Amino acid sequence: MKVTVVGAGNVGATTVKVLADSDLVREIVLTDIVEGIPQGKALDIAQSISAYGKDTRIIGTNGYEETAGSDIVVITAGFPRKPGMTRDDLLNKNAEVVGGVVKQIAHFSPKCIIICVTNPLDVMAYLAFKVSGFPRERVIGMAGVLDTSRFKLFLAEELGVSASDIQAMVLGGHGDTMVPLIDHTTVDGVSVRKLIDKERLEKIVQRARDGGGEIVNYLKTGSAFYAPATSVLLMIEAIVKDKHMVLPVAALCQGEYGIKDTYVGVPAHLGRGGLEKIVETELSAEELAALKKSAAAVREQIDVLKL
Ligand code: NAI
Ligand code: 2OP
Repeated sequence: MKVTVVGAGNVGATTVKVLADSDLVREIVLTDIVEGIPQGKALDIAQSISAYGKDTRIIGTNGYEETAGSDIVVITAGFPRKPGMTRDDLLNKNAEVVGGVVKQIAHFSPKCIIICVTNPLDVMAYLAFKVSGFPRERVIGMAGVLDTSRFKLFLAEELGVSASDIQAMVLGGHGDTMVPLIDHTTVDGVSVRKLIDKERLEKIVQRARDGGGEIVNYLKTGSAFYAPATSVLLMIEAIVKDKHMVLPVAALCQGEYGIKDTYVGVPAHLGRGGLEKIVETELSAEELAALKKSAAAVREQIDVLKL
């Protein structure tokens, strides 16, 4: 397996580092428009794994020739949010970047699976789907895994349990309308509603929704990258190991949950072919309405791009 990561910034380089540590793939290519950065970071990461005897090939480049024949391409190229900036402020700026990147990827790696990370995530994933001409199975976006990990962390801290004891999923668009499935959230099988009172639970849900912004406010010059990188790693692992694993994935809905022609976070099986199936979990009326509202908000943004 060969993986390309486009964008050698915080998320891209950290993704290469965690992927190199994981031993999942044979070759990783890191590409960016800034001269020297992908080369320098690739070399540093290669040296970091050679220290403990791993020999995954890691290449840094400013072009696309070296990316040819990739099985998976992760797109992190673009600009992160700055304090006071919403994810949606990034729309036009990043559409230009992602559109150009996807043209190159589709040319050099016509059989790859694209995992989009650049924000606004759901809209950029839709753009990648349109520009690549790939089937929906091979164009997905990462956000739900990250949003879910934030939600689980806050719940685990509140209850003093391990995050691994919590079953939860955050669906919807990667933004203010995201939908933590509270009615489906359990701790070792017990509904979270029985363990945390309503007011406190609402605060935790809101903190998860604001999870990206909370980190932007601390960092000031950029946004989160460690958790985003490990979230991408989880998706790559599901694909490489053909796990048929259900994860919250930004995927093109074509009627599922009553949503059409929009990318939005939904539960989906991931395996060697990419998106294998969107799972239509039974949602409460409130959850379904929130998911549809979130999809409509993404659709509004897609319409701005006039694709
Ligand atoms: P960053 O600024 O550290 O890195 C972005 C990199 O993209 C830079 O190195 C820049 O030179 C490169 N770049 C710009 N235009 C390019 C082009 N045309 N071709 C190749 N490379 C290009 O930003 P960071 O923190 O890595 O974030 C990247 C993106 O991921 C942002 O849009 C951010 O909002 C998004 N993000 C999304 C998350 C999600 O859950 N979906 C989580 C975290 C970040
Ligand atoms: C995050 O949620 C910025 O979307 C990014 O951290």
